[in-house]
Amino acid sequence: MAQLEQVASPGSEWWRTAVIYQIYPRSFADASGDGIGDLPGITARLDDLKSLGVDAIWLSPFMTSPQKDAGYDVADYRDVDPLFGTLADFDAMLDAAHARGIRVIVDLVPNHSSDQHAWFQQALKAAPGSPERARYVFRDGRGENGELPPNNWESVFGGGMWERVTEADGTPGQWYLHIFDASQPDFDWTNEEVREEFRSILRFWLDRGVDGFRVDVAHGMVKEAGLPDYAPVADADSMGGGEENVPYWGQDEVHDIYRDWHKVMAEYDGDRALCGEAWLPTLKKTALWVRPDEMHQTFNFPYLMTEWDAAALRAVIRDSLDAFGEVGAPSTWVLSNHDVIRHASRLALTADSPQGDGIGPKSKGKPDPAIGLSRGRAATTVMLSLPGSAYVYQGEELGLPEAMEIPDEFRQDPTWFRTNGERYGRDGCRVPLPWTASGTAFGFNDTGASWLPQPAEWAGFARDAEEQDPASTLNLYKALLAERRARALGSGSLVWDDVDAAAVAFHRGDLHVVANLGAEPIELGEGVTFVIQSEPFAGTALPPNTAAWFTRA
Ligand code: GLC
Repeated sequence: MAQLEQVASPGSEWWRTAVIYQIYPRSFADASGDGIGDLPGITARLDDLKSLGVDAIWLSPFMTSPQKDAGYDVADYRDVDPLFGTLADFDAMLDAAHARGIRVIVDLVPNHSSDQHAWFQQALKAAPGSPERARYVFRDGRGENGELPPNNWESVFGGGMWERVTEADGTPGQWYLHIFDASQPDFDWTNEEVREEFRSILRFWLDRGVDGFRVDVAHGMVKEAGLPDYAPVADADSMGGGEENVPYWGQDEVHDIYRDWHKVMAEYDGDRALCGEAWLPTLKKTALWVRPDEMHQTFNFPYLMTEWDAAALRAVIRDSLDAFGEVGAPSTWVLSNHDVIRHASRLALTADSPQGDGIGPKSKGKPDPAIGLSRGRAATTVMLSLPGSAYVYQGEELGLPEAMEIPDEFRQDPTWFRTNGERYGRDGCRVPLPWTASGTAFGFNDTGASWLPQPAEWAGFARDAEEQDPASTLNLYKALLAERRARALGSGSLVWDDVDAAAVAFHRGDLHVVANLGAEPIELGEGVTFVIQSEPFAGTALPPNTAAWFTRA
């Protein structure tokens, strides 16, 4: 039987093959010592990222914000929040990154603003039907006196999707739509004024020299006309990844906006890129986000959501290369980010945990930490061998697990508050990084302050300790990234191998990649020279929960 060969879409733009490191600024490095990371903290640590071997960084939002949703609630799109520094700090960080050959992508949050944004404040003071209100989604309520919300939609963070306002004369008034927290009103993207404002925001950051944008909730910006009632299916994924035909996710008209932005990006030199955050039910639909005149990349969430199962992992890799290949785009690959349970824990959960629920002291199905870490390392060993662009979330290069025992009183995610503690939310993947095994806040800063508490056992994951340990997760990531670069694995073709039902196996030229997702060792046979093992083992039998790169004589 002929082996199936899959070829990555060709092209020389940097984003087709880049490994992009996600910085969550609040939790990366804290130069000011107030317990929240900042831009000068990032600048001071760029050499660590250079030595890790990444091509670019993506920064979660650092713009002016009341921080009701950790900065994904923007009050001024053209300034830096004092928590994180100043625009001058941003420029210095950008220059320092570029000087090291690291590109910089910033987060753009176009679906909604903060309720503290000047436009929303104006809308609250203005009358129903005014141009100020038309920038957001205001509607009259249902019921005799407008006392019922305009429809039955439910917020991703829990509770209803509508909030009622009090009009200027003190009477109960209209309602506004918020897919997320009530402090995050949705813009009305059918309004040309909103479109023009965002073109200008794009240009503001492009003029400063950013290499691209990660576009928040790219699938939510347009709502179905008439805002029809819709109740999600019972166990559907909260961001829409599990459902078809949701009136607020993945509407066709969103594509007009990306086509428009594609033109704005093309006004600039240097292959500036848009990467969409779009949770969609199928890879075929996901690929529509990256047709040649739209975004350049989109997150591969079907890949992220794949469980530890060989057949499922083979299928999602194959289908990803097919679906993205059909539209001439690179596939992207991602295992962790600031919204999901860290993959060194998630891949060993023994009970379902829908996206956004998180995991905390009372959760069932907590993972065995050793199995989780092994699977996490093996999964990354597969991911970084794949053609296309890969995303790495800060801390996964240390093998950090999810922080699962955060006491209730420290929780910050709006999901926790909007569900009265029924869903823990995402704090467990957002805990500040350990840089040093000793010292205050594990070297996150020199005051010991930390906006979320760091687990004591994170001393064992500190970067300085891992630097010294040849078998550490950090040194595994460095080896994978160096070898990926040396062998140009970001482009080219992949040929599937039939090794074992419990294996994911393929080769890229003379480099073989095999992962064992089963319960028994898999014998790799004769003539094997290992290039990388996801963790050390002797002989040629690949242990369960392990992956390897090797050549064969
Ligand atoms: C995106 C962000 C998430 C945020 C939400 C609302 O999904 O990744 O962190 O809460 O949008 O802005």
